[in-house]
Amino acid sequence: GHLDLAAAERLLGPRTRVVAVSQLSNVLGTWQPLAELAALVRARSPAWLVVDGAQGAVHGRHRPADFDADFYVFSGHKLYA
Ligand SMILES: Cc1ncc(COP(=O)(O)O)c(C=O)c1O
Repeated sequence: GHLDLAAAERLLGPRTRVVAVSQLSNVLGTWQPLAELAALVRARSPAWLVVDGAQGAVHGRHRPADFDADFYVFSGHKLYA
């Protein structure tokens, strides 16, 4: 349930435009290593990093700047919107 960062590093390149990843798996309950992934994305590609916070947003307070996300998205109904 964790990202394979070595595989991610191999997949990223100058033609990668978007990397989308969930922050917290709703199936396994695993938090992804977003800061480490963001560092790889920045080093190896011009891609935007899109983080799905649908689960993460309701399990604690987060500062997207801490993991260098370009977009942090979640559905409002998870927060009783
Ligand atoms: C990580 C994650 N992303 C997206 C969704 C989908 O959210 P929605 O039901 O608002 O479409 C869920 C739903 O539980 C989720 O856990």
